[in-house]
Amino acid sequence: MAKVFVIHGPNLGLLGERKPEIYGKYTLDDINSELEFLAKQADIEIDFLQSDSEGEIVSKVGQAKNKYDVIIINPAGYTHTSIAIRDAVEAAGIDTIEVHLSNIYNREEFRNKSLIAPVCVGQVSGFGKNSYVLAFQAALEIIKSASL
Ligand code: DQA
Repeated sequence: MAKVFVIHGPNLGLLGERKPEIYGKYTLDDINSELEFLAKQADIEIDFLQSDSEGEIVSKVGQAKNKYDVIIINPAGYTHTSIAIRDAVEAAGIDTIEVHLSNIYNREEFRNKSLIAPVCVGQVSGFGKNSYVLAFQAALEIIKSASL
């Protein structure tokens, strides 16, 4: 069975109460439940990690090699700073989709640059909870075309 790994970076455990006008009213549990539902429908195994720690994210991406078909990652604040997460994604060699709830291109200038996106297959940014849903659909397409 194909496997997808969803990684939520720092402060995303606060979703629902953290700046809802920017990040939406949904909690992380709401997002994970929806993805779990979609995964079940598609017969895909799905695992989740929320971590505030850059080192833990680097380690878990490293351990994902040969275990997952696609990674969906919202690196949150580390998007704009973490060469270590970028290197881990590149080294893992797993098709990775970067996700953002907000549109990182119409906010503060420091959010306009992602260090991770260049080593990802693509990025979804600006659709709130649906950014994850769209990323999951993209993951399904990647899994489908890999099995052809
Ligand atoms: C975010 C955007 C980042 O700039 C920010 O640091 C976050 C969340 C998003 O999902 O919109 O924590 O990744």
